Amino acid sequence: MAIERTLSIIKPDGVKRNLIGQILSRFEAAGLTIVAGRLQQLSRAEAEGFYAVHKARPFFKDLVDFMISGPVFISVLEGEGAIAKNRDLMGATNPKEAAAGTIRADFAESIDANTVHGSDAPETAAVEVAYFFRSIEICG
Ligand code: RTP
Ligand code: MG
Repeated sequence: MAIERTLSIIKPDGVKRNLIGQILSRFEAAGLTIVAGRLQQLSRAEAEGFYAVHKARPFFKDLVDFMISGPVFISVLEGEGAIAKNRDLMGATNPKEAAAGTIRADFAESIDANTVHGSDAPETAAVEVAYFFRSIEICG
């Protein structure tokens, strides 16, 4: 399997509850390397642009409102099969359906406050990484 890069966001609920360290530890323990990262308060326009693919969905406004409710921790993870590996570590979107031991099963409070975002495919990973990081900010 190829070395990939994927975008991870620890959402406002995770940052507020001081979970950054525990979540990053899970990535590193699974063999993913953090090659870029920063805390950021997203503006409404930045969050809307990031989730533009969901613009027509009924949950779009709630999603954007939640994503700008506090700072997020945005990072780029690199490793073998990083995109699928991160999605496996995250668990299902709805924490009630997330497998035991996943980040969302262990930490998420609801489908809105579900603690983490992860890119879902190579194409979206490339777009999402470039949305937040310039190539010189990535130390891979
Ligand atoms: P994410 O993009 O945040 O990593 O989450 P995901 O791939 O697992 O889920 P996605 O379908 O991309 O949805 C993005 C976020 O929108 C919220 N959502 N709410 N109320 C609902 O039915 C619903 N569906 C999705 C979730 O917060 C989800 O993470
Ligand atoms: Mg998604």
